[in-house]
Amino acid sequence: MGRTLTEKILADHLVDGDIETGEEIGIEVDQTIAHDLTGTMAWLQFEALGLDEVKVEVAGQHCDHQTYQPDFKVSDDHRFLRSAAGTYGAYFARPGTGILHQVHKENFTAPGKTLLGADSHTPTAGGVGSLGIGTGGLDVATAMGGAPFYLDVPEVVNVRLEGELPEWTTAKDVILELLRRYSVKFGVDKVFEYTGPGVETLSAHERTVITNMGTELGATTSIFPSDERTKEFFDRLGRPEDFVELAPDPDAEYDDEIVVDLSELEPLIACPSMPDNVVPVREVSGIEVDQVLVGSCTNGAYEDILPVAKMLDGREVAKRTETIVAPASKQASEMLARDGFTAELMAAGVSVSEATCGACIGAGHVPASDSVSVRTFNRNFEGRSGMEADAVYLCSPEVAAATALAGEITDPRDLAADVEEPGFEYPERYIGASESDLIMPDEAVDDGLVKGPNIDEVPLKDPLGRDLSGPALLKMPDNITTDHIIPATQEVSVYRSNVPKLSEFTLKRVDETFAARAAAADGGVLVAGENYGQGSSREHAALCPMYLGVGAVLAQSFARIHKSNLINFGLLPLTIDEETYERIDQGDEIDIVDDAAAAVESGQETLTIRVDDDWEATVGLDANERERELLAAGGKLPHTRQRFADE
Ligand code: F3S
Repeated sequence: MGRTLTEKILADHLVDGDIETGEEIGIEVDQTIAHDLTGTMAWLQFEALGLDEVKVEVAGQHCDHQTYQPDFKVSDDHRFLRSAAGTYGAYFARPGTGILHQVHKENFTAPGKTLLGADSHTPTAGGVGSLGIGTGGLDVATAMGGAPFYLDVPEVVNVRLEGELPEWTTAKDVILELLRRYSVKFGVDKVFEYTGPGVETLSAHERTVITNMGTELGATTSIFPSDERTKEFFDRLGRPEDFVELAPDPDAEYDDEIVVDLSELEPLIACPSMPDNVVPVREVSGIEVDQVLVGSCTNGAYEDILPVAKMLDGREVAKRTETIVAPASKQASEMLARDGFTAELMAAGVSVSEATCGACIGAGHVPASDSVSVRTFNRNFEGRSGMEADAVYLCSPEVAAATALAGEITDPRDLAADVEEPGFEYPERYIGASESDLIMPDEAVDDGLVKGPNIDEVPLKDPLGRDLSGPALLKMPDNITTDHIIPATQEVSVYRSNVPKLSEFTLKRVDETFAARAAAADGGVLVAGENYGQGSSREHAALCPMYLGVGAVLAQSFARIHKSNLINFGLLPLTIDEETYERIDQGDEIDIVDDAAAAVESGQETLTIRVDDDWEATVGLDANERERELLAAGGKLPHTRQRFADE
């Protein structure tokens, strides 16, 4: 039987287990990346593990989420990250160099390599045939120390692309179409592997737009073959030696197949406040728009901004519509500036930002109250923009530009009489790998680890005990995101290296009093509906509840990365059925009847809870042997520290 591309890369990196769907395997990691919000904790954990040197081929530390330094805490974190990268052997991308996925893609991503990133959009790399997986910072820290990364072998879904995109329809519409059809939960424990005749009609950049936002489907990752179009990409970047051809076997067998006829697509838009709330742009055209933002790791490349600049050339954005372009890398900024496009954008009334995530996590350009913001980003969870009850729409750069010109949501086909389809041509001088902006390990400043006063130690949990009883501290609905648990907004994220302080913000967006109640209760559980913890890979969303004494989360289902973060920090992810969810009230006393430590260690798959000393229910514990070892030890940090010490 032929193998899929995913199976081939997994097999090349396999160090533990067998490649069978649903079974856990350990794989060797070639490359890692982290950013400023996840990196400080990853390096503090690397230090706490007693490690002294990065062991992977390439480790990258980026500063992109919060590039402005509104107070010393952020500057201290940036300095700490530079010092940690230099001390342990990672490259460092200064604030302003760009968004990690874009910068890593320009400089280091290579077909056939495994990339582990402390960011959920790490699958971006799949657009050029690299297997990129997002996870928590602790997994990245241990991988940097040379440990394998463990994952359940995902189902591989063949997404067969046919036809060619029509005018004004883009790669963004391909992934929006998949979200429209299949929702944010469809991709859990799946890899989307793109095949078919439509693949060669898409450039490497267009492919990365699709793999980037495959994360919103909940996928483990997404991947395209590495072919002639990929070769063009590496040639253009001046890294031809990194190209290798990769494809699935012609007779590869997939777990599922989806067909997308590119020629049938049209411009689409995700409406507030979920990326899968997708409709044709024409269905919502006419809604007045206060803000348009072009950028992010999805659509902030030169290839995304150039069409916007061409559409706005010689025109002016609507007076009511603040329009911002934030390139995803300094390389993109520099090319736009050299070719005169930055001047054209400015002349059209656009504000051109430095290369940053910024607005994507509410760090800057927060929308006005009761306003509409149209963005080329990948997420529009409520409040993520930094404004509660926001109204954020997600679309392609072309739709964003048409909207900026008209001041209302606009399908660019409806501007066609005035504005031509911009097309795309690469400039004569394409700036490749931007190494001058990166501090490579051999160029590092030799000043040791530099920690400011806001940088605290990583808290450690005790081994799991017998008794896990406590109150249901909070009952939450379906689809609670990591942004609900610990927001990434400026006010909160400045405490990312200070868990005691950061914990005060835990679930504040759901219940103002939660952190104080949890700390006072000295133990307890969280109760949630489906898809708990969807969104980012932010491990603080597990670490802070752990610090506050939460011992278990009872949910109808968990998002993949968050479940693994809960286990990494020693919190039991327990599944409950709908009836149990409905019956539990906030404040009920939840007694886990079993001896928790013994149940975890013996491999018990169900436990019994007794609620308010009144009724009982069965809850599920879906964890493999390795995960149970972590839970018993109080999490991955104490467990791995011991393992590295024993080696
Ligand atoms: Fe940054 Fe937003 Fe992407 S925070 S990494 S631009 S999803």
